[in-house]
Amino acid sequence: MRRAIYPGSFDPVTNGHLDVIERARKLFDEVIVAVAHNDEKQPLFSLEERLELLRETAAKIDHVRIAEFNGLLVEFARAQKAGAVIRGLRAVSDFEFEFQMALMNRKLDAAVETIFLMPKEEYTYLSSRIVKEIARLGGDVSSLVPVCVAKALSRKFH
Ligand code: PNS
Repeated sequence: MRRAIYPGSFDPVTNGHLDVIERARKLFDEVIVAVAHNDEKQPLFSLEERLELLRETAAKIDHVRIAEFNGLLVEFARAQKAGAVIRGLRAVSDFEFEFQMALMNRKLDAAVETIFLMPKEEYTYLSSRIVKEIARLGGDVSSLVPVCVAKALSRKFH
């Protein structure tokens, strides 16, 4: 069983995340979408809300499981018997942080391999942070996130 972890804050899940999950599913038998508690980041959506939005979207894809984790990613990966960590890479600006994280995770556990997947070009400029900003300012996010996420954003801001 080839199993990968796709970790993140998912605050909230976007069409870019879903695109990466579908790509990862072509390479792995099972993909575990792992939501970091990330309390220090003060997310807009609570952990339970972020999990629920993923259950309504990503969990509909075959062999995709939603989980939460607290603590070190490599420890979670080991506990789940996953050999790979998936991260989306949109632009060069992502690279520095992602490279640092991948190599640090390798130092912590050499058995966990990080794999970068490029989302569809139209999602290159998409991020949860930008989606939240657009929604907060009353812009249209319907082409950037699933319907349930757009509704959840409008409940938060209006
Ligand atoms: O969606 P994000 O916020 O870019 O995801 C970042 C995340 C949650 C993947 C990263 O912060 C993480 O792995 N946190 C867990 C703690 C950890 O293992 N830190 C050491 C990795 S360098």
